[in-house]
Amino acid sequence: MRKLLASFLIVCIFTTSSNFNAGYCQETFNVLDYGAVGDGQTDDSEAFLTAWSALCAAKGTPALVIPMEKTFLLQPTKFSGPCISNGSIYVEILGKIVAPKTPQEWKECEKESWLLFSEVNNLIINGNETGVINGNGLPWWTEALRFFNCNDLQLSGLTHVDSPKGHISILNCTNVIVSNLHIIAPDDSENTDGIDINMSRHVNIHDCIIGTGDDCIAIKRGSVLVNVTNIACGPGHGISVGSIGKLEGAYETVAEVFVRNCTFNGTMNGARIKTWPGGSGYAKNISYEKITLIGVQNPIIIDQNYCNGEHDCGNITSNSAVEVSNVIFNDFRGTLADEHAITFDCSKTEYGTLACLNINMEQINITSIDPEKEISVLCKNVNGTTEDTSPSVHCLQARNSTIDADSPDADSPDPYAYSF
Ligand SMILES: *[C@@H]1O[C@H](CO)[C@@H](O)[C@H](O)[C@H]1NC(C)=O
Ligand SMILES: *[C@@H]1O[C@H](CO)[C@@H](O)[C@H](O)[C@H]1NC(C)=O
Ligand SMILES: *[C@@H]1O[C@H](CO)[C@@H](O)[C@H](O)[C@H]1NC(C)=O
Ligand SMILES: *[C@@H]1O[C@H](CO)[C@@H](O)[C@H](O)[C@H]1NC(C)=O
Ligand SMILES: *[C@@H]1O[C@H](CO)[C@@H](O)[C@H](O)[C@H]1NC(C)=O
Ligand SMILES: *[C@@H]1O[C@H](CO)[C@@H](O)[C@H](O)[C@H]1NC(C)=O
Ligand SMILES: *[C@@H]1O[C@H](CO)[C@@H](O)[C@H](O)[C@H]1NC(C)=O
Ligand SMILES: *[C@@H]1O[C@H](CO)[C@@H](O)[C@H](O)[C@H]1NC(C)=O
Ligand SMILES: *[C@@H]1O[C@H](CO)[C@@H](O)[C@H](O)[C@H]1NC(C)=O
Ligand SMILES: *[C@@H]1O[C@H](CO)[C@@H](O)[C@H](O)[C@H]1NC(C)=O
Ligand SMILES: *[C@@H]1O[C@H](CO)[C@@H](O)[C@H](O)[C@H]1NC(C)=O
Ligand SMILES: *[C@@H]1O[C@H](CO)[C@@H](O)[C@H](O)[C@H]1NC(C)=O
Repeated sequence: MRKLLASFLIVCIFTTSSNFNAGYCQETFNVLDYGAVGDGQTDDSEAFLTAWSALCAAKGTPALVIPMEKTFLLQPTKFSGPCISNGSIYVEILGKIVAPKTPQEWKECEKESWLLFSEVNNLIINGNETGVINGNGLPWWTEALRFFNCNDLQLSGLTHVDSPKGHISILNCTNVIVSNLHIIAPDDSENTDGIDINMSRHVNIHDCIIGTGDDCIAIKRGSVLVNVTNIACGPGHGISVGSIGKLEGAYETVAEVFVRNCTFNGTMNGARIKTWPGGSGYAKNISYEKITLIGVQNPIIIDQNYCNGEHDCGNITSNSAVEVSNVIFNDFRGTLADEHAITFDCSKTEYGTLACLNINMEQINITSIDPEKEISVLCKNVNGTTEDTSPSVHCLQARNSTIDADSPDADSPDPYAYSF
């Protein structure tokens, strides 16, 4: 039995200038003091959990410290709250955290995630650029890092390497900021979404570099108010809303998604909205703006017949569809690697009406990488408006037409407003 050094450090900071006598203490919990070895061989899971328990019982703004220049091997581990502290809880990942190299070494291989933070509010995880989470060897069914029921979450400065399934999953969290992450996985790896968001609200993702084998970011069911800015995506499958509506009878929704200033380099898709046939619910109030395209196969795509490739959509009997509405694609520039610059593969609803409504495009200039190549636009069951769009999209109403000039909405640059 290892004797635990239950020593800890208290850093006190007193500010004398402003705020009358305002001072606070930060208790730090270094995993080395709780028995972690950090040689990349020893299982440090227990030591991490012991340190976490101590931190979770502390008041103030405690910090779990994972020191630099060490490599910690962790089994699937759950860091549970709620914690005693009502202030921020810090996790400083300065060293490297690695998963067991082969699935055989996993103690509990049924786990859906490797590192899980559950019910921890005010969690601030900072990688500070030296922090690495390496899921190398993670079994294919697990996510590297999952946050479940964590409100007021901040995650920044980490490098995530090579997780065969999703890298980061944000489930049922409110007020989330994810920034300055670098997520890397081979482009031929399947189902390696960079960041997956389910059932979460007020999520702000900015300044990340994401290259994976699947969606760079996927905004899935129950997500509302998601702001994605300054993302470099590639390789990967783009920044997607969905997929939603997979199960017949399930009612799934996504609303208020704002994607701005993102670059897609060599990706399969750029801006994508994907819904399963036979589903119900909606994806609405979505905008993609200021997008740079470098050799993208499907720069703009609404796919209402999404079946995840090999899956069989044939036995779906319901003719309902997830409604996609109030969408803006604004200011897209760059190059296309394939033939379809714009794809609206929409359905009809069970009432026979169009399932894609009020889809608006403006300031689009997509050219082919190969000047000899034809560029095409695919349109089915969609309506909306277009302005300064090249290639032109004839299935949408030109904004400057007389019909549109009469419509009160025609001149409004923003058909809907966002509030975060
Ligand atoms: C935390 O609790 C203490 C004492 O109960 C209180 O003084 C402080 O304002 C609380 N802090 C926050 C961030 O709620
Ligand atoms: C994080 O990085 C900054 C800048 O390199 C440095 O000033 C700061 O001390 C680091 N923080 C920790 C906890 O190492
Ligand atoms: C999701 O979060 C809300 C609010 O924090 C909570 O009330 C609810 O129980 C959570 N749902 C699940 C499935 O844990
Ligand atoms: C997230 O939502 C999608 C549907 O949009 C679902 O297929 C997936 O299982 C969900 N993930 C989790 C972890 O709940
Ligand atoms: C757009 O994103 C890039 C990173 O991809 C960043 O360098 C640039 O500053 C951003 N521009 C604005 C106006 O925020
Ligand atoms: C796009 O990706 C290619 C291949 O990874 C890379 O060589 C190139 O520099 C990238 N372009 C930009 C503008 O980042
Ligand atoms: C099709 O039917 C099979 C067998 O009942 C089922 O396993 C599968 O999930 C169904 N596919 C879809 C997309 O619903
Ligand atoms: C579209 O972009 C190409 C390449 O940058 C440029 O040559 C062309 O003039 C642009 N077209 C419009 C309509 O702006
Ligand atoms: C789109 O369809 C809806 C419902 O049929 C209709 O109210 C709307 O005027 C149409 N918009 C355009 C631009 O055609
Ligand atoms: C209206 O838009 C069409 C298609 O974009 C364009 O060809 C036409 O010149 C425009 N008309 C006016 C009056 O701006
Ligand atoms: C979409 O935007 C409209 C206009 O701002 C707003 O009235 C509506 O509540 C929004 N819908 C959702 C589901 O957020
Ligand atoms: C989205 O995030 C960016 C960068 O963090 C911020 O500048 C912008 O105000 C946010 N947009 C909204 C609608 O909150």
